[in-house]
Amino acid sequence: NQCKCLNRRRMCLSIHMFVYVSKAAAKTQVEFDYDGPSMTTTVPGPRSQELMKQLGQIQNTGAINFFCNYEESKGNYLVDVDGNRMLDIYTQISSIPIGYNHPALLKVMTNPNNLSTFVNRPALGILPPENFPDKITESLLSVAPSGMTRVQTMSCGACSNENAYKAIFIWYRNKERGPNTPTNEELNTSMINQAPGCPELSILSFMGGFHGRTLGCLATTHSKAIHKLDIPSFDWPVAPFPRLQYPLDEFTRDNAEEEARCLEEVEDLIVKWRQKGKPVAGIVIEPIQAEGGDNHASPDFFRRLRNIARKHGCAFHVDEVQTGGGGTGKFWAHEHWGMDDPADVVSFSKKLLSGGYYHKDELQPYRIFNTWMGDPSKNLFLSEVLNVIRRENLLEQVTRSGKALLNGLYELQAQYPSILSRARGQGTFCAIDACDDATRDRIMLKARDKGVLLGGCGDRTIRFRPALVFKEYHVNLFLNIFNDVLAQHK
Ligand SMILES: Cc1ncc(COP(=O)(O)O)c(C=O)c1O
Repeated sequence: NQCKCLNRRRMCLSIHMFVYVSKAAAKTQVEFDYDGPSMTTTVPGPRSQELMKQLGQIQNTGAINFFCNYEESKGNYLVDVDGNRMLDIYTQISSIPIGYNHPALLKVMTNPNNLSTFVNRPALGILPPENFPDKITESLLSVAPSGMTRVQTMSCGACSNENAYKAIFIWYRNKERGPNTPTNEELNTSMINQAPGCPELSILSFMGGFHGRTLGCLATTHSKAIHKLDIPSFDWPVAPFPRLQYPLDEFTRDNAEEEARCLEEVEDLIVKWRQKGKPVAGIVIEPIQAEGGDNHASPDFFRRLRNIARKHGCAFHVDEVQTGGGGTGKFWAHEHWGMDDPADVVSFSKKLLSGGYYHKDELQPYRIFNTWMGDPSKNLFLSEVLNVIRRENLLEQVTRSGKALLNGLYELQAQYPSILSRARGQGTFCAIDACDDATRDRIMLKARDKGVLLGGCGDRTIRFRPALVFKEYHVNLFLNIFNDVLAQHK
């Protein structure tokens, strides 16, 4: 069945032709952008290697790709210390919302009214500045998910999830306790990590999910063993995430069966863990599993999962750390599900520039606390990012660019079926699989040497995470280069 569909698609594509080299790349309209990539050395170049050696004496540099020149980087282009200018389709692990050195953000920096916010970082939980309620209303609350009017700011993605899990546990125990206050036994046992003060509660997560690398989050992260190895963890249930066939619209029946299988397993696990005496207080899930390989599921899957959570009294936590901020063509990926009440908790970070989570009123314990609890200077930038998104209709731009990108990927996978498969995406949040991990890595390195920066995820997936200012012009530029890389691949 899959073969038939692929052949049909291939035939259809061959009628329309798909040679990118001949496609006109209209001039960029991003006024602070460069014209295209420009490479002077292989990457990492000599200066990067020198710096790597220097830093290596202080830190582990195993994961460093190259050193950057952030002063010279502009728009969709990242410039390295050797003067190489690359079209950035990975954007600091999906965390640059509107490109490098956006003039609107530089203006925020030079506005004297903002100076004290940059200079004095407050302990927000105890001493917030006068403008904090206004600033948070015009930034984070102006994009609050449906049904949510409260937001807790935090610093990074993991710390947002970590605190959201704590809020879920406290909410769950408060429900159980009702009007009673905690007993002395609870208070005393909590001090020595024992029940009933530290109760045996759990968070259900999904195989392939990624929610961060702090201790609690890591218990819900299941994308790579190397992230988890040697670190003690909780006995929490892990459900299968649907393994769908792409393109989704050609495999609706098979995919629905796969999703039903996973949902059945979720309910079984909730019952099993309740019987074990470790009830599931919350379910955490990404709208698109990102680090785990860009795995999608249908809106129907999420609607049903949300209902399962409701039925069993579990909080439903949607982790939008990577999907949030517009990359899917909607500000939140969960908006694609079309629900008025999509979640109890929605966590964010990355493109929103600082972390945090939105939550329902009842998930409001006063015991969520740390020193900074976010950073008001990041909210100043976020306000401006949101202005730019609205003023320039960037979500529509993402939808247009995403369509062009995904169509281009379909065509390339038809052209190079022995190398590429499973093109998929929502907005510009796209991905394609290589035939194996070595090929994926080689293709990405070749693309980098030609001036295109890509990211990998899962076992053999290439993920696309451009900024919201990535236009059709940039899509065509990328496809031309990617086509060259694939043509030269042996
Ligand atoms: C879905 C998701 N959740 C949580 C995190 C953790 O965020 P951070 O790296 O800021 O801790 C990530 C990071 O990639 C993520 O993709």
